[in-house]
Amino acid sequence: MSTDVIRTQVAIIGAGPAGLLLGRLLALQGIDAVILENRSREYVEARIRAGVLEHPAVDLLTEAGVGDRLHAEGLRHDGIYLQWPGERHRIDFPKLCGRSVWVYGQTEVVKDLIDARLEAGLPLLFDISDTAIHDVETDRPRVTFTDADGVARTLEADFVAGCDGFHGVSRPTIPDHLRTTWERVYPFAWLGILAEVAPSTDELIYAWHPDGFALHSMRSTTRSRLYVQVDPSEKVEDWSDDRVWEALATRMALPGWSLQSGPVIEKSITPMRSFVSAPMRHGRLLLAGDAAHIVPPTGAKGLNLAAADVKVLFEALDSFYRTGSTALLDAYSDTALHRVWRATHFSWWMTSMLHPATGPGADPFDHQLQLSQLKYVTSSEAASASLAENYTGMPFA
Ligand code: APR
Ligand code: PHB
Repeated sequence: MSTDVIRTQVAIIGAGPAGLLLGRLLALQGIDAVILENRSREYVEARIRAGVLEHPAVDLLTEAGVGDRLHAEGLRHDGIYLQWPGERHRIDFPKLCGRSVWVYGQTEVVKDLIDARLEAGLPLLFDISDTAIHDVETDRPRVTFTDADGVARTLEADFVAGCDGFHGVSRPTIPDHLRTTWERVYPFAWLGILAEVAPSTDELIYAWHPDGFALHSMRSTTRSRLYVQVDPSEKVEDWSDDRVWEALATRMALPGWSLQSGPVIEKSITPMRSFVSAPMRHGRLLLAGDAAHIVPPTGAKGLNLAAADVKVLFEALDSFYRTGSTALLDAYSDTALHRVWRATHFSWWMTSMLHPATGPGADPFDHQLQLSQLKYVTSSEAASASLAENYTGMPFA
């Protein structure tokens, strides 16, 4: 085995939305980066994730020159529905806060960013392994890895951007005694299906029901994405397609409305957690996206939060390369965490309002509180404006 040394300015670990978007923004400013990804291109491009982009994230992707397909194929949504048995209410985003959201799968965002990077001939290495980060407390950090051909390589950089998601190697590189983590694991999970059927709704429906939460989302005018709350111990095999459609129809039932079912092309269970690790910087290692924090999907914030981190990080790196100043890099963690905690609170709040405990743990008092909150948020302009401005995304820092 030979060792090859590559020199770059920013070593980016992870080709999810965070790493790819950071690479794109840096490239537009002429800052060199190498992106390392341990999965294959096919795997990364097939991974099904959430599908709602906040207004500021759409603006950022557009400014980054990767918004063409998003604008052509994405669906602008001006509201969502909140529902409980017998009632469905719309939250009108533009009226309440002047913004909208776009329904466009994270999978598509990732494909657009990969295409842009490869078309520009910039380095993006898939199928690497043995990623290890060294010397981040010096100004010459290194990343060692084994490339797709089995060659041991070293990437020398000025900075390492840890964009390698929740299970990556970046966060654990920060010594335990220098990190604080906060975590909430929720006592429920989402079973999601992707179905080859036109959505039965024009906008997303978030439904509270004593059997559990249900969500009707979509990927296009011909593809629906739907979720039901299940117990985290449940197995996908226990949920036949018919059982899922039945649960969805029961939980979202409304007089005069019906749910169209169709062939299910993907089915999976996602556990729900909130997690924040701070600081997001250690020496010359800077974390962004799921590497530093996780939100439950109820607020549709995961990808948007990754994009917000990346914007702050990009501006800090750009400022360093233009002026030599480390002021924005020094402030990066605090600046990013400000938004992270807002989104963490919003996602926790949406989750708490919409997921009833079911079975023997069900507490009728909690159910009444949830219903009261839903009635308040759909009837008070102040309360619905608060939901709208959080859901559509506060302007980026
Ligand atoms: N070396 C190289 N790459 C790695 C390593 C490693 N040791 N560990 C993980 N990766 C890769 C993963 O394979 C993945 O492609 O890092 C990437 C991280 O991407 P994401 O998990 O998508 O995280 P992020 O870019 O922060 O995007 C956050 O993704 O998980 C969703 O819902 C979440 O919407 C949010 C968004
Ligand atoms: C999705 O379409 O996958 C989706 C939409 C809204 C959410 C979560 C997931 O809150």
